[in-house]
Amino acid sequence: MLIRCILITGSPGVGKTTIAKALSHELRIPWLNVAQVVSSHNLGIYDPESDTYDVDVNVLRSTLIRTIKEDVIVDSVIPDILPKSMVKLVIVLRLDPIEMAKRLIKRGWKLRKILENVEAELLSVITYEAVRYYGTNKVVEVNTTGKDVKTIVREILDILKGRRRDEYKPFSIDWLRRYRDPLDVSRKVLKMLKEPQLRADQEHS
Ligand SMILES: Nc1ncnc2c1ncn2[C@@H]1O[C@H](COP(=O)(O)OP(=O)(O)OP(=O)(O)O)[C@@H](O)[C@H]1O
Ligand SMILES: [Mg+2]
Repeated sequence: MLIRCILITGSPGVGKTTIAKALSHELRIPWLNVAQVVSSHNLGIYDPESDTYDVDVNVLRSTLIRTIKEDVIVDSVIPDILPKSMVKLVIVLRLDPIEMAKRLIKRGWKLRKILENVEAELLSVITYEAVRYYGTNKVVEVNTTGKDVKTIVREILDILKGRRRDEYKPFSIDWLRRYRDPLDVSRKVLKMLKEPQLRADQEHS
């Protein structure tokens, strides 16, 4: 059987899992969280230096090929995780880097890890990787900033129906137009880390 998945990708904390679950419910297509596959198959090796799990992408890719037996909505922070032939559409969720930083602070992430990921979002790194691997035609970007889950899902359903596809072309979102100096963003994040409200949230999450 020819498998054609929808891949939801994006930087950490942009809402991939939230949106993938909601879309799965809406389309009645099962949802697969790649992070769960990594953990259930023990594919991640913890690197204390970067405080992340290193994964051999080739091993993960073959595991997914073996696991996926029907069309699924795949939720992954690594875009180039499925063979091109198994992917119908790649949706890169984008989020204003400052909003993203707030979510990562609430998770209690370390400053360095927050800054690395915020910088990657600022520079559209996931979009570059997705386009390099899957090609421009299969990739769309959706700005989730300030939108509720329902609105984002509605936009994705429109894209899947082939509507307003031009508005979602890759690289249409460029945070550098809003934040001309990336250092300003880092300074803002540093300042936010000292805000008691965000830290209080972190203690309760
Ligand atoms: N549209 C939204 N509006 C407000 N909050 C949201 C929205 N989408 C997700 N969130 C919140 O942001 C946080 C991160 O969401 P989620 O876990 O779905 O992100 P993720 O991209 O899957 O993260 P990770 O890369 O770590 O898996 C959660 O607390 C979630 O409730
Ligand atoms: Mg997730």
